[in-house]
Amino acid sequence: MVFKVGLLGLGTVGTGTAKILLDATQRHPLLQTLEIHRVGVRSLDKPRAVDLPETCLTNDLEAIETDPDIDIEVEVMGGLEPARSLILEAIEDGKHVVTANKAVISRYGNEIAEAAKKAGVYVLYEAAVGGGIPIIQPLQQALGVNRLETVTGIINGTTNYILTRMQSEGGDFEPILADAQALGYAEADPTADVDGLDAADKIAILASIAFGGKIRREDVFTEGIRHVSAADVDYAETLGFVIKLLAIAKRNPPNSDTNDTNDTIQLRVHPTLVPLDHPLANVNGVNNAVLVEGDPIGQVMLYGPGAGEGPTASAIVSDIMTIAATLHMESPAEEKLPNPLLSNAYSDYKTISPMEQLESRFYLRLMVKDQPGVIGHLGEIFGNHNLSLESIVQIGLQENLAGLVIVTHEVKEGEFQKAISALKESADVDSIASVLRVLG
Ligand code: NAP
Ligand code: HSE
Repeated sequence: MVFKVGLLGLGTVGTGTAKILLDATQRHPLLQTLEIHRVGVRSLDKPRAVDLPETCLTNDLEAIETDPDIDIEVEVMGGLEPARSLILEAIEDGKHVVTANKAVISRYGNEIAEAAKKAGVYVLYEAAVGGGIPIIQPLQQALGVNRLETVTGIINGTTNYILTRMQSEGGDFEPILADAQALGYAEADPTADVDGLDAADKIAILASIAFGGKIRREDVFTEGIRHVSAADVDYAETLGFVIKLLAIAKRNPPNSDTNDTNDTIQLRVHPTLVPLDHPLANVNGVNNAVLVEGDPIGQVMLYGPGAGEGPTASAIVSDIMTIAATLHMESPAEEKLPNPLLSNAYSDYKTISPMEQLESRFYLRLMVKDQPGVIGHLGEIFGNHNLSLESIVQIGLQENLAGLVIVTHEVKEGEFQKAISALKESADVDSIASVLRVLG
């Protein structure tokens, strides 16, 4: 069974999405049941970074809307209109929809959800928040069993990239923003990023899911990073903080004075001084992270690339796949499958490489005789086993023995173990106190 995908947009996210769909090997087998049927763009002459049949491309978006062969429509063109209307038309036409458009979902999500419910189709938007980080589905499902109390996020890649570089280089705002645009992180109009509007869209979406209610987008207090200066970044660091654009959604505790148990929440986006030992303080560059706090789970942080072609496309395709799984289950009885996303029944064993063939760096602590020529002899043993050293440090003397700590360059485990055997047999070596593998 093959499901047909119509793409509205072939820019940063659309291109990444097409690349994954056109190269399904070694990915989830469900991707092999998906086919790009038509792609809507503004300009037919623009060079494209994906190899699609020319007949696939059209600037007649209505033709995609009304194409009865399309099962899933993917809106990655951005902006409020015509994106919103196209999503609603697709729903009315019985198509499932996947979108990355947080501006539309945060403002018209309720209208869209009601239309989808009426039409019996799904509208998924994992890519709308946190780029490649799965956050919407975990909030709805795995974390949804908790009573969620706070969702705190660094959820705009562009501003985090700017603030991180201001901190590490002390650079100016404008040229760093231009880099973020060139890297495909920023919105078509980067005002949405810099003034906090994009993060406000996203926290409105997260709050609605986390706290189970409609959110009015205009209720999100929003302050951007334009007024944050290099001097502020510097002073904050001196005081033990980093400046981050945080988006915060928090359930207020019941008011004990008035006995008011009314479920109210806080919803805000603003630059914030974050203590250096806070989990969000080390989220740098284009990375995003969402710290979810709830009962009884405690704190969970989801972290990853928050923007850009590949990460955002990963989230888009995961939604397409979720819909494809549902369509498989709705297929005629003779073809019906159990939910392919819940099945872990594999047919083949994977071949695991023998440990001795793997390459790693090693840390080695040993006690050697404290006498001339020992280091030269050790060097000979290492050389005989193609083992080159990254560092060697003497860590002290103990009677007539010297402690050495050695870190090697990458070497095959088998060769390293042979070197260890040779060291154990050497008259210069008293003992090998410790051997550990070094990451990276
Ligand atoms: P983009 O690079 O500007 O691409 C937009 C695409 O849509 C282009 O292919 C453009 O056609 C097409 N398009 C726009 N308006 C059109 C119209 N009126 N008619 C026909 N085609 C039209 O945008 P993007 O960065 O991929 O972002 C797309 C969406 O994903 C936005 O909602 C954005 O907020 C969201 N998003 C982006 C990222 C990211 O990292 N970039 C991350 C998460 C979510 P042409 O190619 O012919 O110009
Ligand atoms: N412009 C957005 C950002 C794209 O910088 O985070 C991802 O939603």
